[in-house]
Amino acid sequence: MSTASVLQDNIVNTHQDFKRPSRGGIRYTPLEGEEARKLDRMFNRQNCLIEVHPGHVLLPSKYEELGDRIRGMEVRSSDVWVVSYPRTGSTWLQEMVWCIGNDLDLERAKILQHLRTPLLELTVLMANDDGEWMRDLGNSVELVENMQSPRYIKSHLTWELLPAALSTVKPKVVYITRNPKDMCVSYYHYCTLVHNMKGSFEDFCELFLKGRVPLGPIWSHIFGFWRRRHEPNILFLTYEELKRDQEAAIRKTATFLGKTLTETEVSKLANHLSFSSMRKNPSVNLEPIMTKKNGPDFLQATELRFIRKGEVGDWKNHMTPEMTTRFDAWIEENLRGTGLSLN
Ligand code: A3P
Repeated sequence: MSTASVLQDNIVNTHQDFKRPSRGGIRYTPLEGEEARKLDRMFNRQNCLIEVHPGHVLLPSKYEELGDRIRGMEVRSSDVWVVSYPRTGSTWLQEMVWCIGNDLDLERAKILQHLRTPLLELTVLMANDDGEWMRDLGNSVELVENMQSPRYIKSHLTWELLPAALSTVKPKVVYITRNPKDMCVSYYHYCTLVHNMKGSFEDFCELFLKGRVPLGPIWSHIFGFWRRRHEPNILFLTYEELKRDQEAAIRKTATFLGKTLTETEVSKLANHLSFSSMRKNPSVNLEPIMTKKNGPDFLQATELRFIRKGEVGDWKNHMTPEMTTRFDAWIEENLRGTGLSLN
């Protein structure tokens, strides 16, 4: 899909012949055809995803129960939202934002990240992996609704599916994105680890290029925020920028959040946020949740980790030259004329 059509699709999406009735501006259609069957095989579940409009966003069907509620949610001016497509460094950024906003309270940062700064749609994203462990986490939308201000909220939803009141209330929103080749590699490993996905990396790449993985196309997601990057309540960051100079990214984010940090605080936070610290930090590395979901021996039996490699350019270890060429052409075509660079 070209950038022009992505932008167009974000503005109006009224031409499809939808199979399910429209509710609150969000529309849902079942996935059909060979790609749908492939996804069902890979995720080992029938009708594992539906298509949500606008934006061709692929989500578990549970979203039909919560989509309108999310879109109509109350937004508070004191909220801080961290938004991203999955596997772009959002957990890293989320921890940075929460710590800055909470004056580097590293004691309180030991509380499970999901409780301090919940992923709004977690209940939906994990709906196909339901179990006792999910019931313990509760309904993520309800959790956000009932939080005390100031709320720190994370989401992987597109601008069009997020609460409409974001446009009027204008709370602070920090968005992060990443080079799509690294996103794809990271997402493949994540789906294997967290959703027990079966399938080859090549199959996953094909679906990713077509926007047929959970959450759907990346470009409409990214441009929904890139277009708004000059609005004073929006900060647009990249994974590569955080990797290049984490301390500079901390200062930039602190300024955006209206906080002043001393140099000692910046380096204390950089230490807390380093890849090695985050990897062994049970409040952010999902290991307590993975163990609850899959049993106590799970992490011994797999090399995969939620906080996995933490590098720019890991795609070189996974993509064939042919796949690299296809990704490069696709990235070039979609970024041309946008002013955005994702290297
Ligand atoms: P890799 O799989 O390439 O290692 P998200 O949190 O949006 O799901 O993104 C996950 C990606 O961010 C993973 O990428 C993960 O390792 C990386 N990541 C998490 N914490 C990081 C840190 N402190 N420094 C660098 N990368 C980090």
